[in-house]
Amino acid sequence: MEAAIDALASAHYAVIPNFLSANMQQALHNELLQQQEKGFFHEAGIGRGIQQARNVDIRGDSICWLETDFAAGGQYLQVMDALRQQLNQAFFLGLQSFEGHYAHYQAGSYYQRHVDRHRDNDARVVSAVCYLNQDWPVEAGGELKLWNAHGELLVTLPPQGGTLVIFMSADMPHEVLAANRSRYSIAGWFRRD
Ligand code: OGA
Ligand code: MN
Repeated sequence: MEAAIDALASAHYAVIPNFLSANMQQALHNELLQQQEKGFFHEAGIGRGIQQARNVDIRGDSICWLETDFAAGGQYLQVMDALRQQLNQAFFLGLQSFEGHYAHYQAGSYYQRHVDRHRDNDARVVSAVCYLNQDWPVEAGGELKLWNAHGELLVTLPPQGGTLVIFMSADMPHEVLAANRSRYSIAGWFRRD
């Protein structure tokens, strides 16, 4: 995690392969599918509050917010809380909380280039996306593309299971490319309210 914190400081993003143990990845993936079967997923919106609009042209994922009483998701929230404290110690960011949701992109779904910090709300400081796809072949697509504030492409990352990517929420545009199969992840944000 030291290297990741250095990378976040110098490049404003870090990629951490095998962040999740195989067991944890499997447990999260199973829980995601269970929540989906129970009908607890909904189509993701854009923006906040009354401006929230469903628009699959911009974003096609379905989501389910993690709750502390989820068996696997609750554990993930604890892991993220430990990371929150590490980030605060390294950067004095004053991060107060973490929110995250399971996400499912069906084959052909994508999320157009966007920035995570909302125009009307600057609570999101650091973004953290963790992938739950076992054995993702490169030809499956579904890459995350990440640019810096100057518009330079930094990385094109396949959504390989267990990998965590963190980046500054305020000024880093990114995009989720369509995949030819279901793409599973947890997207989350460290917040300062
Ligand atoms: C998001 C997002 C990236 C990914 O949910 O805001 O950008 O790779 N996700 O799933
Ligand atoms: Mn995003």
